[in-house]
Amino acid sequence: MSSEVNAPKAEKKKNRNYLTGKEIRAIVKSNNKVTRALEKKKRRKAKEEEFLTTLKDDKNILEVEDLHTYFFTEQGVVKAVNGVSFEVPQGSTVGVVGESGCGKSVTSMSIMQLLQGPAGQIVSGEIRFKSYDFKLDEKGKPIPIWETDEEGNPVFEEKKDKKGRPVLDKEGKPVLQEKQKRDEYGTLQYEMEEKVFNIAEMPIKEMYRLRGRQIAMIFQEPMTSLNPVFTIGNQLDEVTFLHFPGSTKADAKRRSIEMLNLVGIAMPERVYKSYPHELSGGMRQRVMISMALAGNPRLIIADEPTTALDVTIQAQILDLLRDLKKRINGSILLITHDLGIIAEMADFVVVMYAGRIIERGTASEIFHHPMHPYTIGLQKSKPVMDSDKDTLFNIPGNVPNPIDMPDYCYFRERCSSCKKACFGDYPAMVQVSPTHYVACHLYDENKEGDAK
Ligand SMILES: Nc1ncnc2c1ncn2[C@@H]1O[C@H](COP(=O)(O)OP(=O)(O)OP(=O)(O)O)[C@@H](O)[C@H]1O
Ligand code: SF4
Ligand SMILES: [Mg+2]
Repeated sequence: MSSEVNAPKAEKKKNRNYLTGKEIRAIVKSNNKVTRALEKKKRRKAKEEEFLTTLKDDKNILEVEDLHTYFFTEQGVVKAVNGVSFEVPQGSTVGVVGESGCGKSVTSMSIMQLLQGPAGQIVSGEIRFKSYDFKLDEKGKPIPIWETDEEGNPVFEEKKDKKGRPVLDKEGKPVLQEKQKRDEYGTLQYEMEEKVFNIAEMPIKEMYRLRGRQIAMIFQEPMTSLNPVFTIGNQLDEVTFLHFPGSTKADAKRRSIEMLNLVGIAMPERVYKSYPHELSGGMRQRVMISMALAGNPRLIIADEPTTALDVTIQAQILDLLRDLKKRINGSILLITHDLGIIAEMADFVVVMYAGRIIERGTASEIFHHPMHPYTIGLQKSKPVMDSDKDTLFNIPGNVPNPIDMPDYCYFRERCSSCKKACFGDYPAMVQVSPTHYVACHLYDENKEGDAK
C-alpha cells in the first residue's frame, strides 16, 4: 500500500493539486450564496443618500480605500484586489505599475463597475469619486443655463425643428424661444453641481451617470472597444446624444468632428464616415481618446493605452493624453507595466504586487528612492541604453497562487532582503515621508508614522 493512501485525510488534501467533484460542488454552492447577495445589491433601487459620501481630502478627485475585489471561481476565491488604498489628486496623473496579473485592470474595472458578474464582485471597501454632474429639477430634468444680455435680460432666438428649419406660427412668423448657452463646441449648457459618490455602493443603473461623462476609459486594444458595424461618426455622435441632452444631429456631428480634430486626426470628415477596420491602430487609439474626450470627463482611466502601438505612435499618444488632461483640467489614472511611460507621465506612482499595494509615493520618490525590494528589483530590470550588461536583471521566483495567498509577505519567496519579522504577519503599510508609503518589515521602525 502506498504512503499516499495511508496519509491522514487533511494531509492527503494538502498534497493534492486538484479538487474532487464534491469539493468543487461545495465551492460553487458557497460562491452562489455570496454572489447572489452581491448581485441583488447591485440591482437594487436605492436613494441617492445611500451612496453619497464625502472625500477625506477635498483636493482629490478619487479615493480608493481598502478595496477588495474577488472572483468567485470553481477552484476557489481569487482575491484579485485585496485591500487596495490610494488616491488621485485633482489635476494629477497617477501611474499604477506591477507585473502581469497583480490586479491593475481589476482595480480599474472596479472603479467603473465593469467587472464581469456574477463571478467578479467588489466585496468591500470604498471608491469615492467627486462627480460634477447636471443639477436636476424636481422632475429629474437638467436645468438649462439661459443667455442674458448686458442688463441681465433674456435673449431670444428662432425656434428650429429637428432638421434645423425655423418653426413658424399660424401667421407664418418665426416662433421665438429663450436662447440657451452653448460651449465652445456648440453644445447646450446646463447648471452643474458637485457630489461625491461611493461607487462601491452604487447600483449598476446609477453608474450610467458616471461612465463616459465623468470617468472615461481607454483600453489597450481599441478594436475591441469600437463597434465594427458602425461608422466612427455614428459612435462618436452617440456619446454626445447620451451625455448632452437636447443635442441635435447637427450639434453632435459638429462636436464629433471637433473632437477628431483635437486628437490630431487629419481629414476628420473622412474618418467620421469610416468604419473602425478602415483605420490604422494608432488612428483607432486616437478615435478612442476622442470618444473619451467627447463626454468631457474629469477622470481618464487609461489601461495600457500604448502597449499595442509602435514606439513613435506611442510617444504621440502619450503627448496627446498629456494635452487632453490640461484641456479638460482633469486627472489620469495610467495603468502600465512600462516604467518608462510612468517616469514620463506620472506625478504619483502606485506599485502593486499580487493584489496589494506594496509601495506608493511621488514619481521622484519611487524612481530615486525605491524602498520595497520588489520596487528596487523592478527598477533594476529596466533596460538601460548605456549599460555594459548583456542580460537584464530578473526577479527570481513566482507570484503566490492567488486562490491560496499566504498570511506572510507575498514577496518573501522571491526576496533577498528577508529578515526574522518576514516569517511573521503580512507587513503593515508604513509611512516614510508625507507622500511615501511602503509595506515591508525592513521599515518597521517607521511604524509610529501615520501609516494607512
Ligand atoms: N474573469 C476572471 N476570473 C477569474 N480570475 C480573474 C478574472 N479576471 C482577472 N482575474 C484574476 O485577477 C488577477 C488580476 O488580474 P488583472 O487583469 O487585474 O491583472 P493585470 O495587473 O491587469 O495584468 P496585466 O498586466 O497582464 O494586464 C489575476 O490573478 C487574474 O487571473
Ligand atoms: S517584508 Fe521581508 S520578505 Fe517582504 S519584501 Fe520586505 S524584506 Fe522582503
Ligand atoms: Mg491588465
